[in-house]
Amino acid sequence: MTQAPPHATRPSVRVLGESISRVDGHVKTTGAARFSAEYPYPDLAYAALVPASVARGRITGIDVSAAMALPGVRVVITHENAPRMRPPRKPSVANLATLATGTSVNYLNTDEVHWNGQPVAVVVADSLEGARDAARVVRVTYDEQDATVDFVREQPNARRQKRDALGGGEGRKGDAVSALAAAEVSVDLRFSTPMHHHNALEPHATTAVWVGDTLTVHDGTQNIDWTRRHLAHKFRVPVGNVRVVAPFVGGAFGGKTRVWPGTILAVLAARVAGRPVRLMLTREDVYRTVGGRTPSTQRVALGADRDGQLTALIHTSVTQVGRVGGGPEQVVSQSRHLYDAQNILVEQRQLTLDAVSNTSMRAPGEAIGSFALEAAVDELAHRLDLDPIELRMRNEPDRNPLDGKLFGRRGLREAYARGAARFRWADRTPEPRSMRDGRWLVGMGVATAYHPAWQLPANVTVRLSADGTVLVRCAFHEMGMGSATAFGQVAAHALRVPFEAVRVEYGDSDLPAGPGAGGSAQTASVTSSILAAAARLKRDLATLADRAGVSPDEPPATILTRAGEDHLEATIGSDGGLGRVADQVRFMSKFLRDRRRYVKAACGAQFCEVRVDADTGEVRVTRWLGVFDIGTVVNAKTAASQLRGGIVMGIGAALGEESLVDRDTGRIVNADLAEYHVPVHADIPRIDVECLGDPDPTMPLGVLGAGEVGIVGVAGAVANAVHHATGRRVRDLPITLDKVL
Ligand code: MOS
Repeated sequence: MTQAPPHATRPSVRVLGESISRVDGHVKTTGAARFSAEYPYPDLAYAALVPASVARGRITGIDVSAAMALPGVRVVITHENAPRMRPPRKPSVANLATLATGTSVNYLNTDEVHWNGQPVAVVVADSLEGARDAARVVRVTYDEQDATVDFVREQPNARRQKRDALGGGEGRKGDAVSALAAAEVSVDLRFSTPMHHHNALEPHATTAVWVGDTLTVHDGTQNIDWTRRHLAHKFRVPVGNVRVVAPFVGGAFGGKTRVWPGTILAVLAARVAGRPVRLMLTREDVYRTVGGRTPSTQRVALGADRDGQLTALIHTSVTQVGRVGGGPEQVVSQSRHLYDAQNILVEQRQLTLDAVSNTSMRAPGEAIGSFALEAAVDELAHRLDLDPIELRMRNEPDRNPLDGKLFGRRGLREAYARGAARFRWADRTPEPRSMRDGRWLVGMGVATAYHPAWQLPANVTVRLSADGTVLVRCAFHEMGMGSATAFGQVAAHALRVPFEAVRVEYGDSDLPAGPGAGGSAQTASVTSSILAAAARLKRDLATLADRAGVSPDEPPATILTRAGEDHLEATIGSDGGLGRVADQVRFMSKFLRDRRRYVKAACGAQFCEVRVDADTGEVRVTRWLGVFDIGTVVNAKTAASQLRGGIVMGIGAALGEESLVDRDTGRIVNADLAEYHVPVHADIPRIDVECLGDPDPTMPLGVLGAGEVGIVGVAGAVANAVHHATGRRVRDLPITLDKVL
């Protein structure tokens, strides 16, 4: 973060909402920004993981002799020689930090294997290559047990999920089953989506340094506080002895929310080796040891009268969790909120596999649930001979359809109206295969984006100095979203100082604890505390101004100087602070109470144009427009980038991404970027993004969050456009050319 010379003037331009380039842009583009695997330590050793090759069983023997014989190998840690660690705590929403647990396995403290890829040994060597070479020659034998690894085969064993604390699980209004049977027009459809992996540009990496009983960890995490608490617990040291440093994270998307074996075993290896240790996961290690997005099967059934008024909406899903952890994804959640059906039934089932815990991945649930729901709405529109936007508008509710709650904000009508005009939706001829450009069949599709808005506790310190500078301190996360820039803007706006006067410190557990960067909640969470700090500072400034006999309207620096004060500071602890569980519970209870009155969510309209090769079935996305209601836009440039990133990831899910699991061994067979197809530049057209920009009155500064809503609806819009182009309905992601032909 650079700092301009002191200012004592009013900002000359509006700062909130401005397209200010990222303050970390320069250090990132020049390579000066240091990521977790780039911290130099003298005497640094390197670690590599040995993954289990069976999905379930017990280790009967580990032969490390060949590994130990290689040059530079210091130690091979296995369950036979590893120091004891405390088992992870049981995850509970009552204590947020317990949710850090990636899986319940106490790695290398057990001979049990729970998934194919679970680390069963760690090699420590003087060089990275040495460690990886040695890891390959560790010989492990197993007493293999029958494993349950096939998501498709296990479908009948899925169990119903009860309504949970986060508002997931079952929901019903009226009798949707009877209403569907009686409907004048209906569709009843099955969909499936595969497992996905996050594939952040920076694979997970940890550099761990013990000095006595104090630990410093450079770890590419999106939850510094959880990581710190989890490691303190496991290694039996006070929380204050653990420092987690993560100023830069090279993308995360949910994959770095929890603490996975790589981080824990780097810390263990450093303990055993008596040296700083670096463990960088290979891309394959990421697939083996970090959970991905659950696969799903879904049913969406819609009934309507001839005018297109929905009488029945049924949305059910089956997802997987690991036997050793993972949580349900809220696949059907948007069906509680999007359409004004007279009768609604949403239901989630889950099954348990011998697999690594699934974890949150960008809009967990909504990203894949919206594919099914929005494709089904499109099919119903086609059946009704109604424009798909018109069908949505006829079912756009004034209140939450399931329970009549108020919406904090809901800009969907406006988003569709603006989007349709800008995308020239009126040029679309409704009949499938009716638009053509040479050998390309042209199609246009829409879908609705929706993501709930959350707020988490955030501790923030804001300091005003007499030299005119402002310092914001909070251990939030900068994973490429532009958060450091956005919070500088929020502080400048709240204190009415120039943006250049604000410096922001983040990404270090030595700072006041921030929220995890998850649930699209970081901006609203930290903003809330910055606003509270600013309010307190303004009150204290007024007192000082009074004492010094100057107008309280003078710039803060003038007041401080005239009052003879060097600085003024305010610390906000989100109703008490992150440190104590009771305070977190109080904060979350208050937020959840508010959510009992209001549905808080970002939404949007996705517009997609595809061209499909009439002979080969190749699908190219050729135009995109997303019009979003994310409440207040803090920074137009970074918000648009977030939304665009979501759309890119959604196009990946629509057309290419799929983690393939071997049905016999439970091994992920395409654990690399050669075989797992994320979009490349050539796959992505120009993406236009527009935000409505009006604040949500129920959220801090009106902010709803932009990190996840962008991916929602994308696969649905692509599928609908493909149908319009070709007449083919593909209800099984990804939409590959073999399914289109
Ligand atoms: Mo997210 S999937 O809450 O990083």
